Amino acid sequence: MSEAIEVNGLDVQLGNYRALSDVSFSARQGDTVAILGPNGAGKSVLIKAILGLIPAAAGEVRLFGRLASEVPPEWIGYVPQLKTLDRSFPATTCDLVVSGRRRSWPGRITTREHETAARMLAIVGAGHLCHKPLGWLSGGELERVYLARALIREPRLLLLDEPATGIDIVGEDDMYCYIEGYQKRSDAVVLMVTHDWLAARHHASQALLLNRRVVSFGKPETALTDKSMREAFGHVGHRHAPCPEVPYV
Ligand SMILES: Nc1ncnc2c1ncn2[C@@H]1O[C@H](COP(=O)(O)OP(=O)(O)OP(=O)(O)O)[C@@H](O)[C@H]1O
Ligand SMILES: [Mg+2]
Repeated sequence: MSEAIEVNGLDVQLGNYRALSDVSFSARQGDTVAILGPNGAGKSVLIKAILGLIPAAAGEVRLFGRLASEVPPEWIGYVPQLKTLDRSFPATTCDLVVSGRRRSWPGRITTREHETAARMLAIVGAGHLCHKPLGWLSGGELERVYLARALIREPRLLLLDEPATGIDIVGEDDMYCYIEGYQKRSDAVVLMVTHDWLAARHHASQALLLNRRVVSFGKPETALTDKSMREAFGHVGHRHAPCPEVPYV
């Protein structure tokens, strides 16, 4: 089986800032890779570099053996961390979902497209939102709608930048199951940025712990250890145990 994603010695330079240094990892069809690391670690930058939205200063990214620019766009589904969409635009949720397949803002959508969009929304627990104006969606609702928008094109590669952000506590678990369900059904490769170590352990076949460079990469149980967490974050956290003393000056 050939590699679906190959990242070799990737450096990314943003102005004077070296955002990523010598990042290498690979994933095969059927893998789900969780990308974890502190705020500012370069997780979103890595996703954008894989998509070819940010150039590499050195190294190379290959998707299905090709340069990103040579991959048919319909092979890739992407949910960005920051949604720059103008929500005052007079469109419905279904219109936005259909735009994931058409890759352009639809004019009038067909009955068939509407049915497909409604089905995708139902899969991500948002079937009731189809007719809602975009401007009315809550943060968690919008996240679900974006996942439906990425899934409607049935991508071979799904890139999700914090797909469960803003989702309620039960819905969060459901989101990871929707993603896993799609991955299993389609044998896609999934790359998802998450801050949820439990989700990475339960839903990913590999974990990449990043802090501007690769801290660890491998099966979640071997890549996500107290040692690697201390290396990436400086300490292991305290998960609602009594807080350490914070000096106020
Ligand atoms: N255009 C830019 N010029 C300089 N620095 C930038 C630019 N864009 C992003 N950065 C910096 O690159 C670093 C990595 O950003 P990135 O968005 O990838 O972080 P992240 O790991 O996704 O963090 P978070 O968990 O907060 O989403 C940050 O320190 C950010 O300030
Ligand atoms: Mg980010």
